[in-house]
Amino acid sequence: MQHLSATRPEPNRRFSVAPMMDWTDRHYRYFARLISRHALLYTEMVTTGAILHGDRGRHLGYDVAEQPLALQLGGSNPQELAECAALAEAAGYAEVNLNVGCPSDRVQNNMIGACLMAHPGLVAECVRAMQGACAIPVTVKHRIGINGRDSYAQLCDFVGTVHNAGCTSFTVHARIAILEGLSPKENREIPPLKYEVVHQLKRDFPQLEIILNGGLTDLSVMREQLNHVDGVMVGREAYHNPWLLADVDQALFDDSYPQPTRLQVLAQMRPYIEQHLAAGGQMHHITRHMLGLFQGLPGARHFRRELSTTIHRTEQPLALFDQLFEQMQARLERA
Ligand SMILES: Cc1cc2nc3c(=O)[nH]c(=O)nc-3n(C[C@H](O)[C@H](O)[C@H](O)COP(=O)(O)O)c2cc1C
Repeated sequence: MQHLSATRPEPNRRFSVAPMMDWTDRHYRYFARLISRHALLYTEMVTTGAILHGDRGRHLGYDVAEQPLALQLGGSNPQELAECAALAEAAGYAEVNLNVGCPSDRVQNNMIGACLMAHPGLVAECVRAMQGACAIPVTVKHRIGINGRDSYAQLCDFVGTVHNAGCTSFTVHARIAILEGLSPKENREIPPLKYEVVHQLKRDFPQLEIILNGGLTDLSVMREQLNHVDGVMVGREAYHNPWLLADVDQALFDDSYPQPTRLQVLAQMRPYIEQHLAAGGQMHHITRHMLGLFQGLPGARHFRRELSTTIHRTEQPLALFDQLFEQMQARLERA
């Protein structure tokens, strides 16, 4: 069978926005894409069960404007993952990524996420099956270890085994996951970040693409990190401070097209919101992802408050949106 994606370009992973459940949904991604043309965007993790037995259109649907876009899968059944990888390719995703980093109890019970780091052979089997079913790149996102399996030799064993199955791009959250006793949130904060382990990995596997993730907030630090690794992935900062993305194209992709302004981005969101409302959706589904747009500028708190509280009391959400646009425009002109 000839794969349509044979002509699809390999996505550039120099800068990506991390997969984040409940945060990087299609509305956030549409918004983020208005700010950066080049950042590779990831979906939230979608389990194979949700795709194969749930509302497939909802789980795989996106707006073409979001491209380049990667689908992150959660699962550990090679056959099911292979089916989902084929569906990802057919849906037009630029990449399919396997989640081997999520520490939640709920997913551990289903053998999804970071617990798979203890089973490199199974992850390799999953990757092989996925690659056999699609022609888009199959990548893996993982931690530097899990409790009880956190030595550098074990990390190399994991990466080496999965590489032997054909995976050549690894996104590494530079801390271990502790699978008992910490919440997922604590597991993103408490285990210390160890960038040097990821640098060592790149030195020991120079032929692999190694992407660094965890705690990155500052573009100059990211630029420095790119001396050691092939790409950086940013999660929380890209969500809470989306304007970070505005400098990415110029600073990391050497693309010097004129940057949009925050007000232009806000204006561009209006027709998207209108369309969502016309389809029966609610404005806050979209605007909840935009609260940080004016972070650091006059009026930022007002903007955030109106969109997170007043929005729930108004019958006329678009009128509130228009009013806010004018207020922010006036505040920025005065500043
Ligand atoms: C709300 C939230 C949801 C997340 N969901 C996922 C997920 O679905 N899949 C995944 O691989 N990682 C998930 N993560 C982890 C991030 O992808 C990332 O690895 C982590 O936040 C560290 O990067 P950061 O310090 O830049 O935020 C999530 C993180 C957050 C904050």
